[in-house]
Amino acid sequence: MLRFPISICLFATIASLSITTVIGAAAPLVDAATEEKITALLGQMTLAEKVGQLTQDSSSFDLTGPVPKEAKPRDRYDRIRSGAVGSMLNVCGVAAVHEAQRLALENSRLKIPMIFGYDVIHGYRTCFPIPLGEAASWNLTAIEATAHIAAMEAAASGLNWTFAPMVDIARDARWGRVMEGAGEDPYLGGLIAGARVRGFQGADLKAPDAIAACAKHFAGYGFAEAGRDYNVADISEHTLRNVVLPPFKAAVEAGAATLMNSFNEIGGVPATANAHILRDILKGEWGFSGLVVSDWQSIGELRGHGVARDLADAARLAITAGSDMDMEARAYGDHLAELVRSGAVKEALVDDAVRRVLRVKFAVGLFEDPFRHCDPAREKAVVGNPAFLATARDVARKSIVLLKNDGGLLPLSLKLKRIAVIGPLAADKDTPLGGWRAQALPESAVSLLEGIKAAAGPATKIVYVVGAPLLAKPGDFPYEVVFNTTDRSGFSAAVSAARSADLVIMAVGETAIQTGEGRSQADPGLKGLQEELLREVYAANPRIVVVLMNGRPLTLPWVADHVPAIVEAWHLGSEAGHAIADVLFGHYNPSGRLPISFPRVVGQVPVYYNHKSTGRPMDSEGKVYWSHYADVANEPQYPFGFGLSYTTFAYSDLRLSAPALTADGSLTVAVKVANTGKVAGTETVQLYVRDRVGSVTRPVKELKGFRQILLQPGERQDVTFTLTSADLAFYTARGVWEAEPGEFQVFVGANSRDVTTAEFVLR
Ligand code: BGC
Repeated sequence: MLRFPISICLFATIASLSITTVIGAAAPLVDAATEEKITALLGQMTLAEKVGQLTQDSSSFDLTGPVPKEAKPRDRYDRIRSGAVGSMLNVCGVAAVHEAQRLALENSRLKIPMIFGYDVIHGYRTCFPIPLGEAASWNLTAIEATAHIAAMEAAASGLNWTFAPMVDIARDARWGRVMEGAGEDPYLGGLIAGARVRGFQGADLKAPDAIAACAKHFAGYGFAEAGRDYNVADISEHTLRNVVLPPFKAAVEAGAATLMNSFNEIGGVPATANAHILRDILKGEWGFSGLVVSDWQSIGELRGHGVARDLADAARLAITAGSDMDMEARAYGDHLAELVRSGAVKEALVDDAVRRVLRVKFAVGLFEDPFRHCDPAREKAVVGNPAFLATARDVARKSIVLLKNDGGLLPLSLKLKRIAVIGPLAADKDTPLGGWRAQALPESAVSLLEGIKAAAGPATKIVYVVGAPLLAKPGDFPYEVVFNTTDRSGFSAAVSAARSADLVIMAVGETAIQTGEGRSQADPGLKGLQEELLREVYAANPRIVVVLMNGRPLTLPWVADHVPAIVEAWHLGSEAGHAIADVLFGHYNPSGRLPISFPRVVGQVPVYYNHKSTGRPMDSEGKVYWSHYADVANEPQYPFGFGLSYTTFAYSDLRLSAPALTADGSLTVAVKVANTGKVAGTETVQLYVRDRVGSVTRPVKELKGFRQILLQPGERQDVTFTLTSADLAFYTARGVWEAEPGEFQVFVGANSRDVTTAEFVLR
């Protein structure tokens, strides 16, 4: 599979003098000779064989949604043998994949192999930070590296395809799937989407360690009203184009072979039946030649949405709109052939969908060798190879965000005599694996307690006390989570351990099963007795480092106001405990930056940095009739891009190379950044712009660039960014992606709040 860079050409349109960015078509997934082979194959296929290619079945294990009633393992085998299934999900491991592929091929007239997909979201066996956490690294090299290792393991385990990356922009901490994406920003989200696609697919999809990526969920799933999973998303074309779609476009430009539908509707049209996003934009404007797979039963759910009368009607709507493969709804399998025979669906639509499926199968090399990923010796050598743990630890520590460090409580001295470690999450070897942990072995993460014990000096005694269980009973997927709100029997031990310790490390947050699909929360705060225990411990010894383990931004007003040190440690994967201890003891100077704003209270949600000004801007302080709350500040608790270090950085001398930028020119933005502290540290220098006046309203700030630099104490560096008019383009009132001449503000700083500013004009 070859991929070519997208050509970007800039020209000034004479009519409006605006500057249009034209993105060339996405690179074709296969070459012309392969297209010919596909045409020849299609010509030989019966309608039933075509429909089989558009059907994806799950194995009977590891289910992520409701299963058709008749789904017994035997039925699955019969369906494979009969050619009714072109792809499977949730079959993994060389033995299982080999067996399913053998069944398919032995019975396939045209010897068309099946393609095997799986949710490899943040690692396969070796577990990396949840995607939201990893996004906090702002380190594209590291992110690409973990996706690559995930692909190596998954491919060695027989798989060809991952249902990742999830590139949904998410502004709502209530939504359980916030953990699966890269946060709230389309620019950062786009870069991370590209890095993940490149990591999974590599330079050549036929390489033994490559698997096809799937950018999901197309589109708008993260905009579910009130953060309630699967809920309606009412998104304007403006928000769709400027905020929701850019990461998908970046994924397509990076060569993503597949996309997945989303469950939601957009303005009355469910995404699975939405020809505007699938045909007009994705397959039309962007020239995407790969396949679109439905989400789990999302074709069948068109009945629930109330746009399809029955499953046949749902199949008609979905294939017409451009959903190519049916995951688990049996809509295509049971109805598509009849729809074609009756004339309700043109066979050309089916042919186009089959062509896309075959393209992906050719692109990943399945026609050359259907058993290409089925080598048991390779599986044994690669899956869970301990050599991957070094990367897991490195990326995990890069993902940690230091939110507060009053009085320099951190890093910890190796000479401390006694540290009390409190909280059930501290000893938990499962929670750090997070949601969507693929084939990570249960209880396989290094716990925080284990990490602290390994890192603490010999003179330090570590005392561990649970305090209070987080859950009332063990929370087992997929059952509901019931929090402990009554058992305080461990409080007194926790309080006395805190009293006799030099310092307390308290782990609070969320268990893995509180996050992910179907795990929306109306109140994303600390559940159960966690805060009550924390307050009692604080009364006994306020020298507390809170280590947060969570899959979403949490609302923590009391913690933020009282506890002197707060470390955001997400769900960090296999090496979590070691990575956190590296930061706590100063073996690694924290460098993570928030990829999403942390609200003060849930009532602020959605709160995000790149909001609009409104006619009564939020900074009109002192007036009553301006856009604000009477009871809480407008600003989030911690803004997008925020994160502290054990050193300090000073910004000075912001300079622009010229007062004006021309359509085909460039502008250099330079700033001096100095390490003014005592230890070396990595700073993420962030550049934002504001378009002062647009044909449509523009965000108050938009991230347009960042640089990570390592500075020694006392070292100073000039950091430069180059802006072109392409960086200023957006979907304008004319319905075109273009930059509009006028005044711009540029901001450079350590996060979206703490910036210095300058101005320029785009001519
Ligand atoms: C999720 C998808 C996932 C699919 C297959 C669905 O419920 O929304 O993200 O890829 O299940 O497991």
